[in-house]
Amino acid sequence: MADELFPLLDRQQRWLDGYHAGLRLSERGTVISVGDGIVWIKGLPSAAMDQALIFADGSTGQVFHLGEHLIGAVLLSESEALTAGTSVRLGDASVSIAVGEALLGRVIDPLGQPLDGLPPPACASRRNLEGPSPAMTERDFVKRPLYTGISLIDTLLPIGMGQRQLIIGDEGLGRTSIALDTVINQRGRNVVCVYVVVGHKRSEAINILGVLREQGALEYTTLVVAGGSALPGMKYLAPYAGCAIGEYWMRQGRDCLVIYDDLTLHARAYRELSLLLRRPPGREAYPGDIFYLHARLLERATCLAPEQGGGSLTALPIVETQQGEIASYIPTNLISITDGQIYLERNLFAGGIRPAIDVGKSVSRIGGKAQHPAIKRQAAHIKLDYLQFQELEAFTRFGARLEVKMQAKLRRGSILREMLKQNRLQPREETRLLAWLIAYNSGLLDDLDPRQARRYLENLGEQAHNWPLTLDTPLEQWQAEVTQWWADSGGRHEQTA
Ligand SMILES: Nc1ncnc2c1ncn2[C@@H]1O[C@H](COP(=O)(O)OP(=O)(O)O)[C@@H](O)[C@H]1O
Ligand SMILES: [Mg+2]
Repeated sequence: MADELFPLLDRQQRWLDGYHAGLRLSERGTVISVGDGIVWIKGLPSAAMDQALIFADGSTGQVFHLGEHLIGAVLLSESEALTAGTSVRLGDASVSIAVGEALLGRVIDPLGQPLDGLPPPACASRRNLEGPSPAMTERDFVKRPLYTGISLIDTLLPIGMGQRQLIIGDEGLGRTSIALDTVINQRGRNVVCVYVVVGHKRSEAINILGVLREQGALEYTTLVVAGGSALPGMKYLAPYAGCAIGEYWMRQGRDCLVIYDDLTLHARAYRELSLLLRRPPGREAYPGDIFYLHARLLERATCLAPEQGGGSLTALPIVETQQGEIASYIPTNLISITDGQIYLERNLFAGGIRPAIDVGKSVSRIGGKAQHPAIKRQAAHIKLDYLQFQELEAFTRFGARLEVKMQAKLRRGSILREMLKQNRLQPREETRLLAWLIAYNSGLLDDLDPRQARRYLENLGEQAHNWPLTLDTPLEQWQAEVTQWWADSGGRHEQTA
């Protein structure tokens, strides 16, 4: 009997030894009202900004506003049962997302939940959606090129890894197309991509997914979607989720490209939430901290120093203008935050020029340092040539008669424009671009009828594809090949005829 009792008593004793009397505190708040994707809450005195909230019905949210008496929160998921009176408790200090290899090829919402009907991605680690940007000492200069495969951009507006380049223009002029082409061009280049779709219709997200899949780009891309019908809180979080995934890759020492499509709709979601939470409205009814909203997102894009693994996060935010007005609030903010902009123009688009990039209003402030010297040398005068040509062309529209010299200039300009035109989904490799630039700069194409130019360029491009040359091959060798091509293609003969 005692034999049985002693071990039992012993266990009891050990349990008692381990017991510490104390009060376990757990705060509870109560929902006062729900609607339009936001909640007002009473209680939870220790709640902090951005803290996660868990409601008794299973809904989730995030603290967005700390009032004197009430807490304002945005909903991130909502069940039918969430009503006034539902109790709520505090969750993690900040909202996070699962990150890892398993995200490639997947479509997820800003909290990492699958939208593609597959099981949740199995990731080992998590990253907070919000986080500090890398310190100055952790960063390196932007010095490696990121090729978009779009000739005009790779020549005149080069982008470097770690750069933030804005794509700006009215709706329907090809902003999404440029972003998608850039993602597609990363195939086989060891760059992982994140495409964030914010606020667009469901059909737009499906289109983007379709293109990525058809072009074989989905396997190295994660699509983060908070569509037009998503809760405004999810739209607000989407770019930060994309950024957190991108940062994970960057911290792994990889190169990552993140697209934010688009930040106008993101800013609108933020404005909606802010107005509902009765924050004082400022210019265009946006709250006062709207600049900070985008600055803290884009500051996280950078190129890390070699000691930090040397990874990079390149950001291509997209913004929408109304009637081409770049001086309105959100566009000017973004222009000042980014390292340059690609500006799309309606008249060019209407005139059949694709991509409809206005070279005069576009700029890349730091990408030139990352451009390959071979392309940089050939591109040196192209921008000026092109702008002068546009001016001349506008001038001749009024029926001005031109000297022979001017006519030649006009023809040369038209050929340049043919060279820089490009259909979507047809990325061009850098060697093809270099061959074209050399042919153009050496004046070989000057006497061609601009209508013939395209045929010649395509032919040169195909030839260049087979030349055993790289961008690092000395210029003389390139020039020799291009000259030989010209002689073989009988161009001279046709000119004189
Ligand atoms: N380079 C291009 N070549 C051919 N069509 C293009 C090109 N760029 C855009 N488009 C067409 O223009 C339309 C609008 O493009 P999209 O990228 O959706 O514009 P946005 O995102 O600015 O609203 C689409 O129908 C697209 O096919
Ligand atoms: Mg678009």
